[in-house]
This record gives sequence, structure tokens and C-alpha cells, in this order.
Amino acid sequence: MARRFDGKQLVIASHNPGKVREIGELLSPFRIAVTSAAQHGVPEPEETGTTFLANAALKARAVTQATGLPSLADDSGLAVHALDGEPGIYSARWAGPSKDFSLAMKKVEEALAAKGAADRGAHFICALALAWPDGHAEHFEGRVDGTLVWPPRGTRGFGYDPMFLPDGHALTFGEMEPARKHDMSHRARAFADLVLACFRP
Ligand code: IMP
Repeated sequence: MARRFDGKQLVIASHNPGKVREIGELLSPFRIAVTSAAQHGVPEPEETGTTFLANAALKARAVTQATGLPSLADDSGLAVHALDGEPGIYSARWAGPSKDFSLAMKKVEEALAAKGAADRGAHFICALALAWPDGHAEHFEGRVDGTLVWPPRGTRGFGYDPMFLPDGHALTFGEMEPARKHDMSHRARAFADLVLACFRP
């Protein structure tokens, strides 16, 4: 049985204001004061893990140790089946220092072409780690499966969304209404499990 969260304050282990706001909204029914690692002056740790879960866990643990407060971290990315799961935990880094995801998508397409890969299957993964100051942690992972299209389609979403066509749908994540993506995404699935296990009364 997962440990339930009965605290009043939670630090989101992220310096991304958009992510902190989104997570705060998801947790708003539970009357928890949500702050960010940046507000506590905690620097982002180096992501040295070799899995999404390991990176989420190390980010949450670093913030909990620095603040003495419970912390929630996420780590996510795109795993392309014919590329043995790449870009995977390096999904953000494939976009280079200028965070150019047109370039990152092009790199994925070129890598698939170089392999002559017929399999264009891929999935997004989101790992979550909720850590308590006594060292306990709970972990959750959500996944959405799909196919990579080329050229990219749509201007909504972010990252690799325009080349990701979720299974059973005609629109890419880049073309879809944001609310529809948020209903089925890897992040939504991981959060649903987290809320069910740790937050819902
Ligand atoms: P992070 O978890 O914030 O480090 O994000 C990792 C990277 O994975 C992002 O920069 C995106 O490139 C990619 N990614 C994660 N989730 C999504 C998504 O929902 N759509 C598109 N790209 C995503």
C-alpha cells in the first residue's frame, strides 16, 4: 500500500514555472501549498540516473534533503522503439542548448532513416517520485503509445508533439486540442495513479 500524503506543503522539484503551475493545478483540490525548488533556492541536481524513474527519484530526494519538506519530481521523454529507446532520458538534450525541437525531431527522423527502420513505433513516458523527509518515496510511471509521422504536424503542444500520433487517433499531439492530449498523455496517466494512491481521501 502506498503511503498517503497528509502534509500541507509540497515542493515541486522543478525550475520550470509552467510545470510547477500545471502540477499545482492538478493538486489544487487537495489544499496543499505548492512551491517550487527555485523558490527555495535549491539548484537543479545533475540528472545522472539511467532511467526516468531514477532521475525523478534523485531530483525529489535532492529537494527534500535541502528543504526538509516533501517533494514531487517528474522526468519524461520520448522512447523510439527502433532506436532502442532513444532519445529516452536524453530527450531534452537532443534539442541542443537552444532547445530547438524542430532539430530534435529531424534527428529522430534521420536516425530512423539511417537504420532503414520500418517500425515507427514510439512511446512517451512520465515518471513521478514523491519523497518524504524521512527517506520514504513513492514512484509512478505513465506511458502513451503511438507512431512517429513525418513531416511533423501541428503547432500545439511542445517538444516532440508534432511527430507523435497516439494509437487510435487521427491527430498528432501537435494538432490536438490541449485538453484532449491532457486526457490521455503519459503525464496524465502517471498523475492519475499518484493522486489515487497518495492524495485522494
Ligand atoms: P523533462 O522531463 O522536463 O526533462 O522533459 C524531457 C523532454 O521530453 C522534454 O523537453 C520534451 O522534449 C520531451 N517530452 C516530455 N513530455 C513530452 C510531451 O508531452 N510532448 C512532447 N515532448 C515531451
